[in-house]
Amino acid sequence: MRNTIGSEGKFRRPSPGPVDRVLIIGSWAKAQITIENIKRTSGAEVFAYTEIRNPGILRLADEYRLGSLSEPSGMVDYARSISADLVIVTTAGPLSLGVVNALEEVGIPVFGPTRGAARLESDKSFARELLRKHLPAAVPEFRVFREVEAAVAYAESLDWRVAVKPTGLTEGLGVKVYGDQLGGGPEVANYIERVLQKRIYGSGMVIVEERLEGEEFTIQSLVDGLDLIVTPAVQDFKRLLPGDRGPNTASMGSYATAGSLLPFLEPKDYEQARGIIRKTLEAFQIETGCECRGFLYGQFMLTRKGLKLIEYNFRPGDPEWLNTMAVMKDSVLEVITGLMNGNLREPEFENKASVCRYLVPPAYPREMNQILDVSFDEDKIRRLGASVYYSCGRDTAGRLNVGSERGIALVATGETIARAREKVEQANELVEGDFHCRDDIGSEEQIALIMEHVRGIRR
Ligand code: AMP
Ligand code: GLY
Repeated sequence: MRNTIGSEGKFRRPSPGPVDRVLIIGSWAKAQITIENIKRTSGAEVFAYTEIRNPGILRLADEYRLGSLSEPSGMVDYARSISADLVIVTTAGPLSLGVVNALEEVGIPVFGPTRGAARLESDKSFARELLRKHLPAAVPEFRVFREVEAAVAYAESLDWRVAVKPTGLTEGLGVKVYGDQLGGGPEVANYIERVLQKRIYGSGMVIVEERLEGEEFTIQSLVDGLDLIVTPAVQDFKRLLPGDRGPNTASMGSYATAGSLLPFLEPKDYEQARGIIRKTLEAFQIETGCECRGFLYGQFMLTRKGLKLIEYNFRPGDPEWLNTMAVMKDSVLEVITGLMNGNLREPEFENKASVCRYLVPPAYPREMNQILDVSFDEDKIRRLGASVYYSCGRDTAGRLNVGSERGIALVATGETIARAREKVEQANELVEGDFHCRDDIGSEEQIALIMEHVRGIRR
């Protein structure tokens, strides 16, 4: 057992001994696939704490508790009642409410950040200022404002080519970018005013930053203090419609290639991204005395001005974690306990590509809380070499209700992206009903366009 001194009141963060009973917190597909890996690769009993009746989680977990993710005491009570040896948090909501602190106070080791560390995700101005001080080349120009007039003047000085970001957690909906969600100067000014005067996202502060142009990708890592495991890069697609058109969603799907890179990434890009994450952990420790622990999700953009960090999340990505877990050979439980105990061991990944495609209700994301009216035979899908993961719940009438999330994810691996996509396509054909999906994700045409875009950036 190893104890690390965190800053938060010089509290000793507990690390796990042998893990016979592990509790996974989270309601969606990324929690399901984490449970699936642990059931497949270890003898541990797996408990789930979920806000909804996710059919995948309910089927896989040895036992589960339905409860609110906005109230740490429910999670602490459940973890205690099952004598959890370790808790793994896969979702952001409860982190800034201090669920990790609350669990550690009763002596339960947790893979997740304390409330202080979760600021890297929940307080965008803190994260941006930290990076500007320690990694200035990795952040765009930005300023943080409380006053509308000054914020609007700054946006105008950048020709309105800005991203406007409320500083707190906005469930992926608060960031609006000139040319995408904001049509021109008046819309930029109007949105700044709404964020600051109407406090639509709470904190009454806004970041106005230079709009970047480039190609985005995700690198997810598992971190503890300065120890870092970086997983293969994944690219996800947030726009609703093929060809990256339409409104933003929580993501319609993703792909990853065999190995760590993406078709448009060079080893030096990947190494640079790893360096940015490593340096962030150091900077965080220097500035706060606090240690980071948990899944750290880095959203990067390759631009003409180099590699930029768009944001960090202290959780695995959805769908990116599905790509990562689909090829992880090792037990994620062993990887996490090794990391927490100072025995870092790089996990092995199958040398395969993967594709994930989300099927969502036709009115998504315009309307939430929709029924996803589909039927399919999961065994048949599995026989094709694909899997179904749920980011939705089953209601008492047996229907899939997406609530505040999306729908079902079809995931497959293959020697190439094309082969993985073909399996997803075949699985998709077995799903009947009323749904929307993007069939261009991982297609040759899509990747050719991305390559062309990146050639332009590197020129
Ligand atoms: P965030 O919530 O910070 O990840 O932002 C959501 C999305 O907004 C990102 O995935 C980007 O596509 C976009 N975005 C954020 N910041 C910028 C920026 N400075 N320039 C262009 N797009 C941005
Ligand atoms: N794929 C987007 C996210 O998990 O934030």
